[in-house]
Amino acid sequence: MSSVMTDQALIRTVSWGAIGGIVLTLFLILLGTINASDVNERQRMDRNTRYGASSGATERVKAVGQMNLASNTAASSATTQVAATATAIIDGKKIYNGMCVACHGAGVAGAPRVGDKGAWAERIDKGATTLYANAINGVQGSSGVMPAKGGNPALSDDEIKAVVDYMVAQSN
Ligand code: HEC
Repeated sequence: MSSVMTDQALIRTVSWGAIGGIVLTLFLILLGTINASDVNERQRMDRNTRYGASSGATERVKAVGQMNLASNTAASSATTQVAATATAIIDGKKIYNGMCVACHGAGVAGAPRVGDKGAWAERIDKGATTLYANAINGVQGSSGVMPAKGGNPALSDDEIKAVVDYMVAQSN
């Protein structure tokens, strides 16, 4: 009957198993805690470098201009002016008259004539983003070829956008 465990042996085996289980559980909990605090620490350091005082994040997310509605009108117009100058520097009309008018003024080579609402309605429907992209990158359309930036790569994307805004405003 040697294969049959005595009661004592059975109790011993079960006890060791239980103790082993408890030790293992405690070990895993400890491991988890160590790891978790490590992750927290790493995240904290990461946040610090990304958003901390020295990262310049505050500077980057700062509002461009501020509306000050409460104070007197002189002060508030001065503050709203700040936000407006960025786009005001670019004179879309002037650039248009300088070069885009060559084709778009009279409708040369299939260019939609500025002021011709019929010619622009469908184009405007495509949305400003598409018009900007086609004016910046150029497009071979159904009526002709629009050269990238009207053939003047020296113009910035923002300048082209301002001109497109002007052309659209004149044509709708
Ligand atoms: C060499 C002639 C020419 C010049 C210069 C020119 N364009 Fe064009 N443009 C065209 C033609 C042709 C089309 C029509 C393309 C088509 O859709 O078939 C066009 C179309 C466009 C469209 C409409 C694009 C669309 O998706 O419908 C915009 C916007 C535009 N031009 C902006 C400009 C701007 C801004 C300038 C000046 C920086 C300029 N163009 C200069 C010939 C010209």
